[in-house]
Amino acid sequence: MPKNLILLKILFLSLLVSAFSQQDEFIYTGFTGSGNNVSLNGVAVIQESGILQLTNETSRLIGRAFHPRPLRFKNSTVANSFSTVFTFAIVPEYPKLGGHGFAFVLSPTRELAGALPSQYLGLLNSSNNGNATNHIFAVEFDTVQDFEFHDINDNHVGVDIDSLISAKSAATSYYDSGSGEHHPLNLKSGDAIQAWIDYDSIAKAVSVTLSPFSSKPSTPLLSVPFDLLSILEDEMFVGFSASTGLLSSSHYLLGWSFKMNGAAQSLDLSSLPSLPHPRKKDHYLAIIAASLSAISFVILAIAAAVYVFHRIKNAEIIEPWELEYGPRRFSYANLRRATKGFRDSELLGSGGFGKVYRGVLPCSGGEVAVKRISHDSRQGIREFVAEIASIGRLRHRNLVQLQGWCRRGRDLLLVYDYMPNGSLDRFLFSDEKTSPGPPASPRQLLLTWDQRFQILRGVASALLYLHDEWEHVVIHRDVKASNVLLDADLNGRLGDFGLAKLHEHGANPSTTRVVGTLGYLAPELTRTGKATASSDVFAFGALVMEVVCGRRPIEPKASPEELVLVDWVCERWSQGRWPEIVDHRLAGNYNMGEVEVALKVGLLCSHPVAAARPTIREVARYLHGGGTTEVPTVSQPPATGVYEQETASAGEGVGGLVDFVHSKSVIVVEEVVSLAGHG
Ligand SMILES: *[C@@H]1O[C@H](CO)[C@@H](O)[C@H](O)[C@H]1NC(C)=O
Ligand SMILES: *[C@@H]1O[C@H](CO)[C@@H](O)[C@H](O)[C@H]1NC(C)=O
Ligand SMILES: *[C@@H]1O[C@H](CO)[C@@H](O)[C@H](O)[C@H]1NC(C)=O
Ligand SMILES: *[C@@H]1O[C@H](CO)[C@@H](O)[C@H](O)[C@H]1NC(C)=O
Ligand SMILES: *[C@@H]1O[C@H](CO)[C@@H](O)[C@H](O)[C@H]1NC(C)=O
Repeated sequence: MPKNLILLKILFLSLLVSAFSQQDEFIYTGFTGSGNNVSLNGVAVIQESGILQLTNETSRLIGRAFHPRPLRFKNSTVANSFSTVFTFAIVPEYPKLGGHGFAFVLSPTRELAGALPSQYLGLLNSSNNGNATNHIFAVEFDTVQDFEFHDINDNHVGVDIDSLISAKSAATSYYDSGSGEHHPLNLKSGDAIQAWIDYDSIAKAVSVTLSPFSSKPSTPLLSVPFDLLSILEDEMFVGFSASTGLLSSSHYLLGWSFKMNGAAQSLDLSSLPSLPHPRKKDHYLAIIAASLSAISFVILAIAAAVYVFHRIKNAEIIEPWELEYGPRRFSYANLRRATKGFRDSELLGSGGFGKVYRGVLPCSGGEVAVKRISHDSRQGIREFVAEIASIGRLRHRNLVQLQGWCRRGRDLLLVYDYMPNGSLDRFLFSDEKTSPGPPASPRQLLLTWDQRFQILRGVASALLYLHDEWEHVVIHRDVKASNVLLDADLNGRLGDFGLAKLHEHGANPSTTRVVGTLGYLAPELTRTGKATASSDVFAFGALVMEVVCGRRPIEPKASPEELVLVDWVCERWSQGRWPEIVDHRLAGNYNMGEVEVALKVGLLCSHPVAAARPTIREVARYLHGGGTTEVPTVSQPPATGVYEQETASAGEGVGGLVDFVHSKSVIVVEEVVSLAGHG
């Protein structure tokens, strides 16, 4: 009898087990309405159409979605086989540059605490990357080449075991059984792509297969022999994690099916929700403009109330240390009167550092530009004012002269010479709506080549003064067209020097800020997080190309080959076709020799390796010199290996909060400086 009982018990148990494993199968065709709700985390949302959007095109996001219940992946000795298929689409912000990708992931938790966005894909961080205690199995669909993780390109699939350095990866392609060939596949195309991931616990191998079509190709893209037993925990969550860096993409999932110990049900592309239509920027802007004008009434009312409150609270504070710099200090009342109470009609522009107003000083009647910066750190302000005191002593005909400052509550006001012609970008990118400024006639908005070359020479002299000729080395940190101002005679004058430092001296250690501007940032900033004379030279190189070509370093509206200005210039230069890239608005009216010198200088300065760039003294000499023969020839940028060495220690300096974006010939770098430890 006991024997029978035991048999019954075994029968009962095995029934239970099979009932249990039957449940380890699910399918989402769209993510609304089904009995299974995915569990969302980070910025992931389910749109009305049923599409799951893991991230949108805002920078530095993490979005995740997991099946709500953990699944049993192994018992003590044996791992289960599993199979999954899903349909995804990646729509990048810029046509050629994605950011950063997503991963299918098995994880002990749904939260993945401490994980970072950007190249970490929301899976790990710089301290736990590669640690066997993670128990993370992931298949990454990566759209940025991170040299730190030995990525092979910016369009690959990799199998990740506890580490973002893939155990094995492959450039994305799919196998077409008709022709028997592998066709390349672009992850960032914005089109729906199907992916199959299978783990065979007997053969102990993971395979990944891709296709733009519904049916599964017979040959996988990637096949990795690996026993998952040590990675898997008994129960694991299964889902997806996506992230963006400074460059970003919308990452979408349209459908997902999964099965333990069997083949996942296939997905029929036609029954899945369809992708949202490509964004129409103008339409989008119109909506924003409309809602802004409605909202601004409300904001104005609130602002009025807040203003009254602040007047009482933020009386002007003078601390003893400020008196040391006495004569340069303006009174708040004077500046308010000068700018007619910071009225919008006096607004010259607004940028990352604050708003700039035109003002007329009541005492002297002199015109000034008043920059108003809000800052939330007393400490930061104190360090900065000390710095301003020294910056205020800088004098050069190609610098915008700082006349003084004023501090009131959290506002820092900087008073500069007034530059009647506004900033250079208004003249270069006439097709764009740029910041408001003093009126300029359309005729005036086109700079001749002579004027352009003169401006470049002027900016080079200003940088030479900052780097080399003054008593201390001053690094500008944010050389770009909108920081070059034009005086009454259209001479170029560099403004905003040292201001980026204020942001680095920020107060709140939990916030991160971008210092510098995409397209102007030198690659080595990723390693050190520290601006140098050489990183200023890099930015100057980008400026030179802008001035010659009349467009921005990264132009989202351009065709993909022309998206990144340096790539485009490099390519045309090496083909000897550089006249094609000179600003067409010049209509051929330029000095060939000078343009050639300028382009050569631009390319030399854009060298990815800091040591290979010329110094600003050399640059100034080339620009003022006799001609193109004096400028060394431009060698091709070195191959990838150099970057690996260069960036091998990335993360030490700035807490690893660094993004890399690799384009054909040059690395465009996004740097995010952690402010921990400052202020
Ligand atoms: C899924 O979500 C819907 C709406 O939020 C809810 O009504 C339904 O009960 C949920 N289903 C499950 C299985 O949690
Ligand atoms: C993207 O998502 C974030 C977080 O949910 C949100 O703050 C932001 O407004 C979104 N951006 C756009 C362009 O929809
Ligand atoms: C647990 O292991 C035994 C033998 O090793 C196997 O027969 C059984 O199917 C496993 N159970 C599960 C749920 O995988
Ligand atoms: C990395 O993540 C772990 C948890 O997985 C966390 O304990 C640790 O603090 C994180 N490290 C950093 C530098 O954020
Ligand atoms: C892995 O993580 C554990 C606990 O988080 C830690 O004690 C150990 O030092 C880490 N090992 C490595 C190689 O980082």
